[in-house]
Amino acid sequence: MRRVSLLGATGSIGDSTLDVIARHPDRYSVEALAAHRNADKLASLCRRFRPAVAALLDVDAARALERDLAGEGLPTRVVAGPSGLIEAATVPGADTVLAAIVGAAGLEPTLAAARAGKRLLIANKEALVIGGAAFMQAARAGGATLLPIDSEHNAVFQCLPAGYEGEPARAGIRRLILTASGGPFRQRALADLAGVTPDEACAHPNWRMGRKISVDSATMMNKGLEVIEAHWLFGVPPAAIDVVIHPQSVIHSLVEYVDGSVLAQLGHPDMRTPIAQALAYPERIASGVERLDLASLAALSFETPDAARFPCLVLAYGALAAGGAATVVLNAANEIAVAAFLAGRASFSAIHATCAETLARMPSREARTLDDALAADADARRTACAILQLPADASGIPLAA
Ligand SMILES: NC(=O)c1ccc[n+]([C@@H]2O[C@H](COP(=O)([O-])OP(=O)(O)OC[C@H]3O[C@@H](n4cnc5c(N)ncnc54)[C@H](OP(=O)(O)O)[C@@H]3O)[C@@H](O)[C@H]2O)c1
Repeated sequence: MRRVSLLGATGSIGDSTLDVIARHPDRYSVEALAAHRNADKLASLCRRFRPAVAALLDVDAARALERDLAGEGLPTRVVAGPSGLIEAATVPGADTVLAAIVGAAGLEPTLAAARAGKRLLIANKEALVIGGAAFMQAARAGGATLLPIDSEHNAVFQCLPAGYEGEPARAGIRRLILTASGGPFRQRALADLAGVTPDEACAHPNWRMGRKISVDSATMMNKGLEVIEAHWLFGVPPAAIDVVIHPQSVIHSLVEYVDGSVLAQLGHPDMRTPIAQALAYPERIASGVERLDLASLAALSFETPDAARFPCLVLAYGALAAGGAATVVLNAANEIAVAAFLAGRASFSAIHATCAETLARMPSREARTLDDALAADADARRTACAILQLPADASGIPLAA
């Protein structure tokens, strides 16, 4: 019986995870659930899954949750604020933590779970992008087992040799090939992109996801963050990580070996597959995902990403090559610009422009420690807010977006 703490329980990955867990009550129970402020949804999840701990970052929302659940005889203790999230991430009763808070906000609880030596299923790619080598080192020192949930990284993981330990040359790996759908604007006239709306950007052709990652998919910043994530997770140099557009989203990624073999993982675009794979690893469990009928697939096609259409992907490769805090700066500027776009305060094309300008304004600096990274993250948020003319608080959180 595995006992799971789910960070980001009220989101899209949270929904998929609880769907898989509910199919296997004999194998999994829920020890903790955490979210930001959606008290109503967390209350109904607490009634259904009866966790020992329920955490909300927002203190008022946590109080409302506590009042809502009072007198129902649940075993659930409600905790609040940043320390409440850490408590959910490190609760001794949980052996498995699924990290699915969106954005940099997920770093500290995900890192706490890594330090506590949990079996850590990572969807929160931003934690790896910001934490980089320091995050991987903390996970090693804590004795954590990292299992990727992002469908591309989970596909790569499934195509790697058993026991792979981050040494691509030794394993005969020539390159990783991450697939990308190309998002909703793959064929849209370039001149139209400045005027697209948040709803259009979030209408992903193949995947149903939260709004931030949907916008990242439309700009392909998501793929850029995934290249950075793959670099840290698998120890593969950036020059050996390629991206190919595959509009059908059936092949989730590939590993090419020196003997010419290319191994791929296929399946329907449904996050329950990688979640079930990682939850049960090294065993396999049913996920509820429909079987793939190869004969009914009309064709699988592939394209090279167009740098003019997807300049954010180019920025991400550049930031990874620049090293130091550049990837942290890029991620922070992107989070601000995407939030501004979703709030109707910036255009779609301002996302790339803001990221490029933030990188240009911030001189290169080291990010040897997590404190260095967090300082760069806050500076980049302030810089991006200034570029977008948004007011920000002292820690770089935009006040109006
Ligand atoms: N969705 C996918 O298919 C998919 C695929 C691969 C990777 N991922 C990655 O998985 C992560 C989650 O994505 P998603 O699509 O599930 O996002 P989502 O639907 O927007 O859900 C985000 C979750 O994070 C919580 N949250 C947001 N800000 C928080 C904060 N400051 N403190 C604590 N909790 C916070 C939200 O709580 P509230 O509801 O209370 O706001 C919600 O539970 C992202 O890093 C994304 O890149 C997602």
